[in-house]
Amino acid sequence: MIKAFKFLRRINLKTIIFNFRYFPFKTAIKFPVLISNNVFLHKTKGRVIINAPIRTALVQIGYGAIGISDFKRSRAVWEVYGDVVFNGRAFIMHGCKINVAEKAQLIFGDDFNMSTECAIIAAKKIKIGNHSGISWESLVMDTDFHHIADETGEVFNHPKEIIIGDNVWIACKCTILKGAVIPSGSVVAANSMVTKKLSGENSIFGGNPMRVLKTDIKWWY
Ligand SMILES: CC(C)(COP(=O)(O)OP(=O)(O)OC[C@H]1O[C@@H](n2cnc3c(N)ncnc32)[C@H](O)[C@@H]1OP(=O)(O)O)[C@@H](O)C(=O)NCCC(=O)NCCS
Repeated sequence: MIKAFKFLRRINLKTIIFNFRYFPFKTAIKFPVLISNNVFLHKTKGRVIINAPIRTALVQIGYGAIGISDFKRSRAVWEVYGDVVFNGRAFIMHGCKINVAEKAQLIFGDDFNMSTECAIIAAKKIKIGNHSGISWESLVMDTDFHHIADETGEVFNHPKEIIIGDNVWIACKCTILKGAVIPSGSVVAANSMVTKKLSGENSIFGGNPMRVLKTDIKWWY
């Protein structure tokens, strides 16, 4: 009885709107996605696809209570026109912004964690592997938004997909830009910038410009 009451308390209006907007009735009624009251559902277009057994609260957006930002008021934003795929459990904390353009894809692996005040902006494709996490105030963005042309007038800074491997930890305040490829098992050190393909699994990468700080590492929560 108490369990049922606690469950029902978490099913707020935003959660109902989100689930019934994106899923067929049989899936929606299980509320696989929980949306906190602190999420601004700015655009709920496109599709949300779950490639995992459906269960309540598989994906949670706008929750958590770490004190580096005001977790009671800090607002997450969902502005989606394209496809968002969840391949399993995902926990996206308060203040995070998810922006996916029309025809773009954002793919989260299983057991994904994103800390507070991060932003992911997908204009083309961003794919994150399983058991990976992004720490607070990081930005992952596969587009520059504005065009830059060379002397012939040809634009050269097109969006490029970003691939983040399995078991990757992106530390706080990192910036991951278009064309970034982060190998499985790696750590990206705090305040680093990734603009291209990094090579070598199980390494710590860091700095700006980026360099390999340590190799043959293993990390866990
Ligand atoms: C990645 C990290 C875990 C590495 O820790 P570590 O292995 O103990 O690293 P060390 O302090 O031994 O530093 C090793 C080298 O990397 C350099 N380095 C470490 N962090 C760096 C960073 N963020 N940027 C650039 N260089 C860095 C050090 O200066 C040192 O360089 P040197 O070998 O030339 O002397 C740590 O630097 C880090 O980024 N921590 C932040 C974690 C975080 O964001 N937590 C938020 C909550 S999830």
